[in-house]
Amino acid sequence: MPIKFPFTKSKKESIQPTLGLDYKQIPKHVAIIMDGNGRWAKNRGMPRIAGHKEGMSVVKKIVRYASDLGVSVLTLYAFSTENWKRPKNEVDFLMKLPVDFLSTYLPELIEKNVRVQTIGETSILPAHTQKAISEAVERTSNNTGLILNFALNYGSRYEMVDAVKEIAGKVKEGKLLPEDINEEMFTSHLYTSGLLEPDLLIRTSGEQRLSNFLLWQLAYAEFWFTEVYWPDFDEALFEKALYDYQNRKRRYGGI
Ligand code: FPP
Repeated sequence: MPIKFPFTKSKKESIQPTLGLDYKQIPKHVAIIMDGNGRWAKNRGMPRIAGHKEGMSVVKKIVRYASDLGVSVLTLYAFSTENWKRPKNEVDFLMKLPVDFLSTYLPELIEKNVRVQTIGETSILPAHTQKAISEAVERTSNNTGLILNFALNYGSRYEMVDAVKEIAGKVKEGKLLPEDINEEMFTSHLYTSGLLEPDLLIRTSGEQRLSNFLLWQLAYAEFWFTEVYWPDFDEALFEKALYDYQNRKRRYGGI
């Protein structure tokens, strides 16, 4: 029996996929490095923050679409541990984005059964950012649809070092033997504990690097790059990424 699209009811019209996606093979976890906001704005003679604002609208479109396609987890790199080096006005703006995003979009996220989560060291974010996030996390905590996972003040090396410290502490206290340390238990000490590993990584803007994003978790992910800047990314490109993913052979080191 053909599978109907979209799977979830929404007041908003959904864009229809056109490439012939196999709905039984939608990647469960898609991670995105949303890059190119600054260049997008510069090309238009606008301040960098205008690019971030436009980028936020694209987040809404892609979340809606990913949810309709039946993606289980969408992890978005919204702010890295390195992004603090940016000018203060830009950092301040980026810290306000979750507030703006959630103040306008939380009702729709709830209606679409989306669950909001975060990875990263969120405890040092400004109070208003933390408040918006914790409210969204709490109000969507019983939702069972798409997990919308924001990487905020996230750095993969920091995450791994932190996991090592926690494990070392347990060994020191005699709660754990060094021989009990394995990949699975290390994974369970990362922020992403409990989430499936990403199947697909998308990076926009033509850059082809990981920039300290999910270094451990992306070990077997398929990578998909586009020259398009994030504010110009859309449902059709997301669908193309999924379509290309479905036409790759994942061998996990086998043949
Ligand atoms: C990278 O582009 C983008 C960021 C550091 C911020 C990404 C944030 C958003 C897209 C909005 C997130 C929305 C919510 C709801 C949190 P860049 O600034 O590095 O672009 P450039 O490489 O062209 O300078």
